[in-house]
Amino acid sequence: MKLFFLEPQRTQRAQRKEERESGDSHDLIRIAICNCAYALLATTHNIFIQLLSKQLISEKNKMSQNTNYSSVTPAQATKLEGDDKRNYIRNLFDDIATRYDFLRTLVFLGHTSLWYRQALRDLELQPGEKILDVGCGTGESTRCLNRFYPGIQIEGMDLSPGMLTVARSMDADSNYFEGDVCSIPRPDCTYDVVVTAFTFRNFPNREMSLAQMLRVLRPGGRLLILDHFYPEKPVLWRNIYTIWMSKIVPQIVRPFIADTTPYRYLAQSIINQLKMPDFIQLIESSGAKVIKTNTYTGGAAGRLIAVR
Ligand SMILES: C[S@@+](CC[C@H](N)C(=O)[O-])C[C@H]1O[C@@H](n2cnc3c(N)ncnc32)[C@H](O)[C@@H]1O
Repeated sequence: MKLFFLEPQRTQRAQRKEERESGDSHDLIRIAICNCAYALLATTHNIFIQLLSKQLISEKNKMSQNTNYSSVTPAQATKLEGDDKRNYIRNLFDDIATRYDFLRTLVFLGHTSLWYRQALRDLELQPGEKILDVGCGTGESTRCLNRFYPGIQIEGMDLSPGMLTVARSMDADSNYFEGDVCSIPRPDCTYDVVVTAFTFRNFPNREMSLAQMLRVLRPGGRLLILDHFYPEKPVLWRNIYTIWMSKIVPQIVRPFIADTTPYRYLAQSIINQLKMPDFIQLIESSGAKVIKTNTYTGGAAGRLIAVR
């Protein structure tokens, strides 16, 4: 009898104990699963990081094999011509392509957007007009023109596959192709306007570049050249700009690139840039008529518009 009354109590206690134990074991299983998942995630993460760093190291090695910066100084590089200049420039832009836009904003303190606006906003391009952006790089100038003039048919050409890869990754819809300004792979009279921004100092041959850009323009079409110039006056501004470009810029880009040669070359190429009157003479001796020139930011940038 006693046992009969005690039995349910014992059974309930035993049942609670069993439930507690089974609850504990469920918690243990949950903790074990969490630990396994965490370990799996951590391992995958580590493998990913290792693969990524191996990939980065091998890309860096490939780049340094590719780059032949050591054989010439940046000042000498600005005087190179033909294939030597072409190879130097292609390697230089391939090397910096992924950091190009960021570093340019840093080096020119964001002024390039202002220069695009000043140089490209008043062209009055009409929908359907055909434009070629020579040396389109990462596509900043091409995108700017597309934004300012919806409906134009624009193509971007560049020598550097690395720069073109970045351009294509930013706007898959645009037409980018690889090509050299000295032999533009397009028939005569294809375009209404040819634009080339911050490129001319880098071309392998000035006369051939101009002849080719004018060849692909239709008669009456416009050639627009926007580029960095070396400010002349006042002398204080020229001196500040020289110190900024040749002494400070290589230091501020240093944390972001292993080799600062591209930015020392940039400074030298600006110092050796043609003066505006010489530029006009060069274009006119190629058979085009310069109809407009402007300088921006105290002569640090400038544009020329010529008609074929
Ligand atoms: C300073 S970036 C300017 C890119 C772009 N126009 C912009 O405003 O951002 C100069 C570009 O000119 C290209 N370039 C240099 N020499 C060239 C050549 N011979 N033919 C075609 N492109 C060239 C380089 O590869 C580089 O992408």
